[in-house]
Amino acid sequence: MGTYRIAVLPGDGIGKEVTKGAVEVLQAVATRFGHKFDFAYGFIGGEAVDRKGTPLPNETLDMCRQSDAVLLGAVGGPKWDGNPPHLRPERGLLAIRKEMNLFANLRPVKFYESLADSSPLKADVIRDVDFLIVRELTGGLYFGKPSGRLVENGEEAVVDTLLYKREEIRRIVKTAFELARKRRKKVTSIDKANVLESSRMWREIAEEVAQDFPDVELEHMLVDNAAMQLIRNPKQFDVLVTENMFGDILSDEASMLTGSLGMLPSASLSTTGPSLYEPIHGSAPDIAGKNKANPIATILSSAMMLRLSFGLDEEAAAIERAVQQVLASGYRTADVAKKGQRAVSTREMVNEIKATILDQEAIWNIMAVYA
Ligand code: IPM
Ligand code: MG
Repeated sequence: MGTYRIAVLPGDGIGKEVTKGAVEVLQAVATRFGHKFDFAYGFIGGEAVDRKGTPLPNETLDMCRQSDAVLLGAVGGPKWDGNPPHLRPERGLLAIRKEMNLFANLRPVKFYESLADSSPLKADVIRDVDFLIVRELTGGLYFGKPSGRLVENGEEAVVDTLLYKREEIRRIVKTAFELARKRRKKVTSIDKANVLESSRMWREIAEEVAQDFPDVELEHMLVDNAAMQLIRNPKQFDVLVTENMFGDILSDEASMLTGSLGMLPSASLSTTGPSLYEPIHGSAPDIAGKNKANPIATILSSAMMLRLSFGLDEEAAAIERAVQQVLASGYRTADVAKKGQRAVSTREMVNEIKATILDQEAIWNIMAVYA
């Protein structure tokens, strides 16, 4: 039994609905396993810009630093699209990743038998897919300077910079190898080494790190080929490791193997402080506040929190099993419902998952009586 402080940053759009759902699911876990989760709430993104004049207020950052883990919804929306760069909601997300040193973003992609028909891909292509995208999260094209508009020989121009320090590449590749060691022992390092100097150094460092992991196979793949292979034969992958921007793009693509962007959780790990857990999807302004969003990505992110930040394996598995069970019994939010199938609301989905977690407890008690 333990007490854990969780900072919750709902953010914008559907971020609010999905984090509310995940908090309720965590409360169900607390009830069942006798833990105590203390939730503290903070602003981030567009709402923080409106209320505090900045997408990442200091009090939010302080609160996160003092917590044991952070649960985040999503940021952004059309309301803030015209804002200057420093007042864009996304800037808050990038800032918290950088400030908390959340350099390793883990995005597991797993096939659910019950959603086999929800993916636009053929069931035999995606059946048994189980891989992990390890996305570098605090460097590369997202953070390099200079970045901005300029004038070059009297002409209007623009620049973004892809910059990595050697150590930043080494630590993310090493993280990927360590994770692969606990899985099927294969790392695919994804780059664009036929064009980019940064990728050639990335490849060189990946080779160096591989020396320390003789039991893990390393392969290199160009990012354009990787985008194609993810659709052609996704079962070949175990752990993929890649630069920030490549990882952003490939993980959205990969989500379709599970049927929906609304299914994919993520963990952003730091080695120096608390880690952060968030769905890979955005704030979906078109369905925000309509009780339609799929809460599963955030609920599964909270399971990752239990496992990776608190070491609560059994509790994490209880959430994952509940999600699987609820999907298997036919509950579908609109994003994964098939034509003609009734779509349940966010609320119904959350209630069902909570009830399943508490039911598992009831079944357990009955078994204990007869044991
Ligand atoms: C993600 C998102 C973010 C990113 C956006 C909202 C800044 O797309 O987490 O994948 O690009 O990292
Ligand atoms: Mg993205």
